[in-house]
Amino acid sequence: MDKITIEGGRRLRGDVEISGAKNSVLPILAATLLAEGESVIENVPDLRDVSTMIKILRTLRVHVAREKDKIYVKPARSLKHVAPYKLVSTMRASFCVLGPLVSRLGKAEVSIPGGCVIGARPIDLHLKGLKALGAQITIKHGYVNVSAHTLKGADIFLGGTCGSSVLATMNIMMAATLARGRTRIENAACEPEVVDLAHFLTKMGAHIKGAGSHLIEIQGVKKLKGVHHTVVPDRIETGTYMIAAAITRGDVMLHNVVPEHNNALIDKLTRSGIAIKKYKNKIHVQGKQRLHPIDVTTLPYPGFPTDLQAQITSLMCITPGISVITEKIYPDRFIHISELSRMGARVFLEGASAIITGVKKLSGAPVMASDLRASAALILAGLVAEGCTEVYRVYHLDRGYERLEEKLSALGAHIRREKE
Ligand code: EPZ
Repeated sequence: MDKITIEGGRRLRGDVEISGAKNSVLPILAATLLAEGESVIENVPDLRDVSTMIKILRTLRVHVAREKDKIYVKPARSLKHVAPYKLVSTMRASFCVLGPLVSRLGKAEVSIPGGCVIGARPIDLHLKGLKALGAQITIKHGYVNVSAHTLKGADIFLGGTCGSSVLATMNIMMAATLARGRTRIENAACEPEVVDLAHFLTKMGAHIKGAGSHLIEIQGVKKLKGVHHTVVPDRIETGTYMIAAAITRGDVMLHNVVPEHNNALIDKLTRSGIAIKKYKNKIHVQGKQRLHPIDVTTLPYPGFPTDLQAQITSLMCITPGISVITEKIYPDRFIHISELSRMGARVFLEGASAIITGVKKLSGAPVMASDLRASAALILAGLVAEGCTEVYRVYHLDRGYERLEEKLSALGAHIRREKE
C-alpha cells in the first residue's frame, strides 16, 4: 500500500487545472445504460471510482473504451441485470445503475452499496422512489432485487431526515426517463451534479424540467439515444485547492472551474480574510497571514458542502480564535479529528459540532486516512505543519483526486508517494 509524505511549510504558488467532477461522471456513466447507441463522455478524471464504474458497466455487457479523458460507452443489445457485490460494495455511486437497469430491462439485482466510512448511509429514499414508480422490491442475501412490468410516472416526495438525497434524486430521475407518464420529484437535490446529469439525459432525448430546483418534473419517453457530453468541473476538488492556497498563505489561480458552484466556500473564506477573485472559468486565491475564525454548518447545496467540512476544519485548526464546524448531513463525519489532534490541533467534539481553538503551528506526524475527504484534510494539514507528515492508507485519495501529488508539487509543495 502507498503512503504520502509531505514536508510542510512551503507556500503554494502558481496555476492548477481542475479535473471533471467525480460525483457527476459516475451517475452519467450509469445513465449511459439507458441509451440505444454510443455515448462519448469528455473531461473524465482518471480515478479509481471511475475505473470501478467502468468494470461494473462491462459486467452488465456495456462496451467501454477509454482514451485519455474521453470515454466511449456502448451498451449491448441484451444487457445483464446483476451488479455484483465485489464491485458495488466499494463505492456508493455504483448504486446508481439500479434506476437505469430497471427502467430499461424491467428488472435489476444490485448489491447494497459501500463507500466512504462517514456514518450511516441508508438507501430507503432510493427504494421509496422506485416503489412509487410501481416497482416491486425485495432485499435478499445483500442484494436489492427490483422488478417492474412497466414503470409508471408518480408524484414522489424524496425527503429524508437530513433533507434531500443527491444519488436518490439521480436514481429516480434516471428511472423516470423511460417510465410511462409524468413523474414529479419533490424535495429533489439541487446539487450541480444533478443538473449535469439532467443535461446529459436531456441531450439523450429525455424530457426534464426543474433540475437545480427542489421540484423536478420528468415526462417519460419511449427511448433514449447515445450522445456527446463534457462533465462539469469538480467543485470539491476546486474547494480543496482553494483551501490549500489559503492554509499555506499561498497565491494560486485555479483554472477550469465554475466559480458559482463554490459560492458557499468563497463566502466563508472571504469572511476569514482570504482574498478571492472570481473570473469566468477561474478563481484566484491569495492567502493572508492573519485569518479570522469562522463558524460553518454543512447543508445541502447551495449551502456549505459536507465534502469540504474536513478540509475547512484543517484551516480553522491554525486560525487564531474559536471556530465551530457543525455537520448536518453526516453527523458522524469527524474521523479526521483524532488524526488532526495527533498533529497538535485543539478540537473537541460536542454532538455533531467540532469546536476548534486555533493553534499557532501544527507539527508533522504519521496519520491514518479514513475516507476520501478526511485524507484530503490531512494532506492540507501536512502542507502547513512543521516537519514531516506521513499519510497512510492513501488509496482513499485515489478514489477522488486526480494526480494530487503532481498538482501540489507543481504548486511548490514538497510531497511524494512512497510504498509503506
Ligand atoms: C452524495 O452521496 C455524494 N456522493 C457524497 O460525496 C456527498 O457527501 C453526499 O452526496 C452529500 O452531498 C456521490 O455523489 C457519489 P445523500 P449520497 O443521499 O447521494 C440521507 C464524496 O466524498 N439519506 O445526498 O449518497 C443520508 O444519510 C462523497 O465524494 C437517507 O436518509 O448522499 C444523508 O444524511 C461522500 N436515505 C443525507 O440523506 C437515503 O436513501 C444526504 O445523503 C439516502 C440518503
